[in-house]
Amino acid sequence: MTLQPKGTGQLASSDGARHSRIHGVGGYRPERVITNEEVCTWIDSSDEWIRQRSGVVTRRWAAEHESVVDMAEAAARPALEMAGISAAQLSAIVVATVTHPFQTPAAAPLLATRLGADGVPAFDVSAACAGYCYGISLASDMVRGGSAEYVLVIGVEKLSSITDKHDRGTSFILADGAGAAVVGPSDTPGIGPTVWGSDGTNWETISQRVGWDEILRRWDQEETTGQPQDWSDLEVAGAREASTLKMAGQTVFRWAVWSMAPVCQQALDKAGITAADLDAFIPHQANMRIIDAMLKQLKLPDDIPVARDIAETGNTSAASIPLATERMLREGEVPRGGLALQVGFGAGLVFAAQVVVLP
Ligand SMILES: CC(C)(COP(=O)(O)OP(=O)(O)OC[C@H]1O[C@@H](n2cnc3c(N)ncnc32)[C@H](O)[C@@H]1OP(=O)(O)O)[C@@H](O)C(=O)NCCC(=O)NCCS
Repeated sequence: MTLQPKGTGQLASSDGARHSRIHGVGGYRPERVITNEEVCTWIDSSDEWIRQRSGVVTRRWAAEHESVVDMAEAAARPALEMAGISAAQLSAIVVATVTHPFQTPAAAPLLATRLGADGVPAFDVSAACAGYCYGISLASDMVRGGSAEYVLVIGVEKLSSITDKHDRGTSFILADGAGAAVVGPSDTPGIGPTVWGSDGTNWETISQRVGWDEILRRWDQEETTGQPQDWSDLEVAGAREASTLKMAGQTVFRWAVWSMAPVCQQALDKAGITAADLDAFIPHQANMRIIDAMLKQLKLPDDIPVARDIAETGNTSAASIPLATERMLREGEVPRGGLALQVGFGAGLVFAAQVVVLP
């Protein structure tokens, strides 16, 4: 006998908004400025080499006590203000980060409580430098699918906590900060289709492996009690070096330069616009040379403003696109309501691009 379902099998479905858009953005840059001169006290390099090879002039590093959640909160408040909504009106929080020092729980539920948005669904996304664009895509689909009305998307990193200061390949690029966006309903399309994907064949080109065996060995040698509690404890016994970020710089460079321009073009095509329609190009602030190479490939008209926040902010991974967006709007470099192409790419390797209407 074949089993039959009990009912008709018909369920009610949720109805979302017809369209979504970004209602507000906000940013937080830690106070401490790290100059190239300071970096050169850790590595054998020069201000000239760092500027030429990466475009970074200064970067911000968080204070020792400043956490990913602290920075996320500081970026979220101005984003909510620009959006004109209160935290209580949020229906979900998505935090893109790879530097929250707990494997679990996620940073997002704590952020929800801090903001006064207790009880909302809240989770983290691990998509490295593409995390913000992944978050915008998820939030847009949540708003349109009816599972949320207003979603707070945060890109936040404390990369200094996983950086080996003495590594010539990473220490001059990586930095800390947070950027936020509030995504909500819209009468007209405000977030174009996302072009996203991954390349697991290059899985190891940017990676942070937690060397727990080495950490516990060193921990045991110290006059410590108990077990290390989270990754912040890796400072103890100098064990942090066992768990810092490693990057195959040239491989990542080539991948980004050759693969990301076609992804950007697809995002333009899917949004039904051409490069000439753009008011801004806001790529992940990985490296100024990558940005320049992508511009050449994309054949972007010369008069379109391009985010170059990396010069003063460094590479803040998931935070870099919302931070650059916030700066361009604040400094009047791009019009509110204008069209921006944003593209994130990084460890995974993963990438995501979409055209958005600026808040
Ligand atoms: C990191 C990066 C700047 C290194 O540049 P590179 O040209 O690949 O550097 P290499 O490791 O091949 O070394 C080239 C030369 O520079 C030297 N060098 C490397 N790091 C240096 C540093 N920090 N300062 C001075 N010289 C350095 C090397 O010793 C080498 O010298 P040699 O030719 O005399 O042997 C580059 O690979 C890069 O930008 N990659 C992408 C990184 C990135 O954006 N990541 C984020 C993606 S999300």
